[in-house]
Amino acid sequence: MPTNRTFTMIKPDAVKDGHSGAIIKMIEEAGFRIVAVKKTQLSAERAGEFYAVHKERPFYNDLCKYMSSGPIIPMILEKENGVADFRTLIGATNPANADEGTIRKLFAKSMEANAIHGSDSDENAAIEGNFFFAHIEQF
Ligand code: PPS
Repeated sequence: MPTNRTFTMIKPDAVKDGHSGAIIKMIEEAGFRIVAVKKTQLSAERAGEFYAVHKERPFYNDLCKYMSSGPIIPMILEKENGVADFRTLIGATNPANADEGTIRKLFAKSMEANAIHGSDSDENAAIEGNFFFAHIEQF
């Protein structure tokens, strides 16, 4: 199985509620190596760029508003089978459907305030990671 990278953001609700440390602990204990990490806040415009693929969806404006409402913690992570294993670790987008023990089951409040993002493909992981981090910030 190839080692690959994925991209994640701890979302504003989880950062505000003080869950960042617990979430990062779960991520490292699941075998992911942190390649890059920082705390930052998106403008609504930058959030719109990040989620441009969802532009036509009814929740797009709310999602951009929410994702720019407070600080987030973006990270690039690395692990064998990283993209798929990370999606398993975080659980379903809707926390009502998330498995027991997943990050969203533990910390998400709703479809919008769902604690954490995870890339859905190797290609998007690279695009999303490079959206936040310069190459010299990725170790
Ligand atoms: S996924 O993971 O792409 O299959 O999930 P998807 O259902 O397509 O949702 C994409 C992102 O949009 C967010 N989302 C919403 N935000 C606000 N309101 C509603 N109703 C809503 N539904 C979905 C969801 O949290 C996903 O965010 P990311 O950051 O990609 O996980």
